[in-house]
Amino acid sequence: PLLHNYWISQKKKNSYYCPIEIKNLTGIDKSIKQLNFRGINVTIPYKKTIINYLDRVDSVSKKLNAVNTIVNNEGELIGYNTDISGFEFGLSKIPKQDIKKPALVIGAGGAAEAITYALAKNTRNEVFVMNRTKKRADALAERYENVYSKKWLNYDIINNSNLIVNTTSLGMLGQKELEISLKEVSKNTVIYDIVYNPLKTSFIKQALIKKLRVITGLDMFIGQARESFKLWFNTLPYVDENILIKIKKVINK
Ligand code: ATR
Repeated sequence: PLLHNYWISQKKKNSYYCPIEIKNLTGIDKSIKQLNFRGINVTIPYKKTIINYLDRVDSVSKKLNAVNTIVNNEGELIGYNTDISGFEFGLSKIPKQDIKKPALVIGAGGAAEAITYALAKNTRNEVFVMNRTKKRADALAERYENVYSKKWLNYDIINNSNLIVNTTSLGMLGQKELEISLKEVSKNTVIYDIVYNPLKTSFIKQALIKKLRVITGLDMFIGQARESFKLWFNTLPYVDENILIKIKKVINK
């Protein structure tokens, strides 16, 4: 809400973004229409089941079978997935030519789906997926020509990856840390952690000590929100210093 309401006032829109607690999804479609909402964001654990309540979903959401943004287009509910643009927004901080092969995705859950999709479509190079439960990584890799599943904590792959993305919840406040050593990775490796609370996870801290370039979950978070805003209001909001300061105040550094 902090972010969207900041942008709403920045763009002088007569709107308000607020959290709504729901017990289940029953009647959500009718409620959105009756209350005449322009749209909503949907998060865990409803990103998949929400699809049953929509009139249609765009092609990317269909492929991922997950929606995080809904637009109410005069009574027609359309589902989108802005996690991919969010991930790409973070990645755009690094010059394209610096992201050479291969990329490594840690994790194979819902977040990994969108990120693997983004990486697989943006490169003809190999993308590796490494997950504690290997069969989930196998299932994800199977759906793409250039994506391969690898054994958990295979350091040959970790040390030779050019981009390493943590898509798991490890490192998040209240969770265990992601224990992957970056000791032997090359100095050109880029570390991307999608966790944004805390901003500096131990994985990010480890990368900073090694003077690697890092992308934090805040970039992905802002990127997905920006794209949702655009779907609702047809204009891209700016990410300025003011809003970054406000957000950083409410998350743990
Ligand atoms: P999300 O939709 O947020 O990605 P998810 O589908 O539950 O959530 O996926 C969580 C990811 O974090 C999975 O890749 C999970 O690995 P498993 O498939 O083996 O469960 C990973 N994860 C969670 N806790 C973990 C841990 N202690 N060690 C390694 N991986 C972990």
